[in-house]
Amino acid sequence: MGIVFYENERIFKLDTPHSTYMFELVDKEGFMLHMYYGRRLSDYRTADLTRTDFGKAVPSNNERERCSFNDCMPFEYATHGLGDYRDDSFKVLNPEGYTATSLEYRSHIIYSGKPAIKGMPATFGKDDECTTLEIIADDPYNGLEVTLIYTVFEDVDAITRSVRVKNTGKYANIKLTKVLSTCVDFEDGDYDTIFLHGSWARERTIDRNRLGYGKHYVSSKRGESSHQEHPFIALLDKNTTEDAGEVWGFNFVYSGNFIAQAEKSQFKTVRVMMGINPEDFCWNLHTGEEFVAPEVVMVYSHEGIGAMSRTFHDLYRKHLIRSKYRNVRRPILINNWEATYFDFTTEKLIAIAKEASELGIEMLVMDDGWFGKRNFDDSSLGDWIVNENKLPGGLKYLVDEVNKLGMKFGIWMEPEMISPDSDLYRAHPDWAIHIPGRRGVQSRAQFVLDMSRPEVVDYTYNQVRSILKSANIEYLKWDMNRQITDLGSSMLDAGSQGELFHRYVLGVYELQERLVTEFPDLLLENCSGGGARFDPGILYYGPQIWTSDDADAVERLKIQQGTALIYPMSTMGAHVSDCPNHQVGRTTPFETRGYVALAGTFGYELDVTRIPKEDREMIPAQIAMYHKFNDIVREGDYYRIASFLENGLWDCWEVVTKDKTEAVLTIVEVLHQPNYKSRRIRLKGLDPEKTYRVATFDIKTADDSTENVLELKGDALMFAGINAPDGFWGDFKSKLIHIKEI
Ligand code: DGJ
Repeated sequence: MGIVFYENERIFKLDTPHSTYMFELVDKEGFMLHMYYGRRLSDYRTADLTRTDFGKAVPSNNERERCSFNDCMPFEYATHGLGDYRDDSFKVLNPEGYTATSLEYRSHIIYSGKPAIKGMPATFGKDDECTTLEIIADDPYNGLEVTLIYTVFEDVDAITRSVRVKNTGKYANIKLTKVLSTCVDFEDGDYDTIFLHGSWARERTIDRNRLGYGKHYVSSKRGESSHQEHPFIALLDKNTTEDAGEVWGFNFVYSGNFIAQAEKSQFKTVRVMMGINPEDFCWNLHTGEEFVAPEVVMVYSHEGIGAMSRTFHDLYRKHLIRSKYRNVRRPILINNWEATYFDFTTEKLIAIAKEASELGIEMLVMDDGWFGKRNFDDSSLGDWIVNENKLPGGLKYLVDEVNKLGMKFGIWMEPEMISPDSDLYRAHPDWAIHIPGRRGVQSRAQFVLDMSRPEVVDYTYNQVRSILKSANIEYLKWDMNRQITDLGSSMLDAGSQGELFHRYVLGVYELQERLVTEFPDLLLENCSGGGARFDPGILYYGPQIWTSDDADAVERLKIQQGTALIYPMSTMGAHVSDCPNHQVGRTTPFETRGYVALAGTFGYELDVTRIPKEDREMIPAQIAMYHKFNDIVREGDYYRIASFLENGLWDCWEVVTKDKTEAVLTIVEVLHQPNYKSRRIRLKGLDPEKTYRVATFDIKTADDSTENVLELKGDALMFAGINAPDGFWGDFKSKLIHIKEI
């Protein structure tokens, strides 16, 4: 059992294989005080962890200084306005205009398994895989029941938290203005934080900083998790490295506005919080109604950042992604976006498909521009009717022709959007999110459909459904190319506009839930102008996400490193794209582009009929490489060895099978240095006792090279290391090394 309540001491102890989380109930008032989150403890008995210099962790004998008590105690869920001046997790606006909240423990239940969260994504596990604790607490003044929900997994060092709030009827309606999903108070210490920052084409760049006093946060108020900031925060000891030291990672299973914050207090304690961004959030809770805050995943590692990443990867592969494609090789696709942009016809697509199929590519994906009168990005979103001028014979004809070549067919849609220049907008202008009488702010010449309206969700779903039913479409790229402005829904009354952001996300989740339920065989790849909706929430619906619109092999080293900090490689959409690269103008070797794309789902994004002959001729070997190594990349343990982001010169990562019998190592020498000694690379994650064969993969033969093969014990490979092979003359060169037990 991963969760135990020690009744006499009134302590809750939550254990994962290598971590312990503890809190206690104190005083007749039912304070819930956080005690410990860290390396696994064998016993619940510890020193008096919540005591301070002021005395015992109970304020009742010292009413005079109650405020001091509230302002320094490690609260399990921080309330508002009663003396804890650190940031809070829970705030309301009651009908009398008061905002303060307080919580008193009332009861709890512990049970096997994990409940789903209705209408929202969440990790899952069978009864023998996880245990759940629900702490039921009251805010009597506001007539609210607040349930803190914790689940611990037996097989992964992860704990999830969410919060459910119920209006028990003191007020007919009470406005929730802040309901964060987790709050953890840490003991004083010198911590660093890691956030992931970015922009379009530069998503999820790792940003590590010393945590100073005050509040440090990232957030989104864009209506999606965003390119710019990411629903993730790691707190780590200042000495923690990739392979050693303590780190606590928090990731939000949600695809909308969020806040992730660390606050260092006057006493050097640190409060980490995560949840729906309270800005522009105001939820009406009527008598008897419940509001459930999305889930936060918390991962602890005392073996460095790499172990934290591997835990997230395992959790998401096993307990979050539901798709039938989760554990199988995905079809190698070729997408026509960078090949043609809007300028294509059936004839052109079939020419690409024909060439691609002969090279071994398995699926053609038709991107933006096939519907309405969309020859540029300024019209027709919402009019999901095939443009027969471009595609004579319609979708069915095209798909059948592609199928005849032995290829699957996939399609692009952007279901949440509406162009002002569309029949849909002309018929239903009020379906766009807008403020009546105010000129709407366009982005990419489009507005966002109001997914808080059930009829809009229904209409949109039927549009997607009828396209998918119209031909043998086996893959959908679901795009979302702008963020939300003009916050206004014509369905919501004046007192409910603060619900729009969250209702929008719930509408999107409903759409995708209906989609994956009706089309369980569909391979769904989410996308948002590249990687603006790369979050665990959306992974619940589709097993892969387009990582970034920047597929330059060098830029991708940084983007994929940042993404793999949390997400398994099996989730990262990665393609070999055209050169000079369309985002940075850089020309990298085709071979390197292939090795970098191998670290994700692998596919192509170029006009295969027009690329240089020698590149085209390499494609069959790259496809063989994918089939040889994808099982390892998709299912294995990921180890970071060198980071171009940090050293500015080279990058190196390794993936090892769970049974440690096989591994693949990728080395990219981004900038070649003159006159340097060969690099010594210490492998990771192998079995020191096993003997391995180490060979360089030869792209010319699509097989391991027979030259310079090593046969060495795992300990020699990990502790003494190997020399990087020769052949790095010039920039952007790369090598793939295959390590296999003999
Ligand atoms: C943004 C996506 O990230 C691209 O791959 C492409 O699908 C375009 N949208 C199409 O408009």
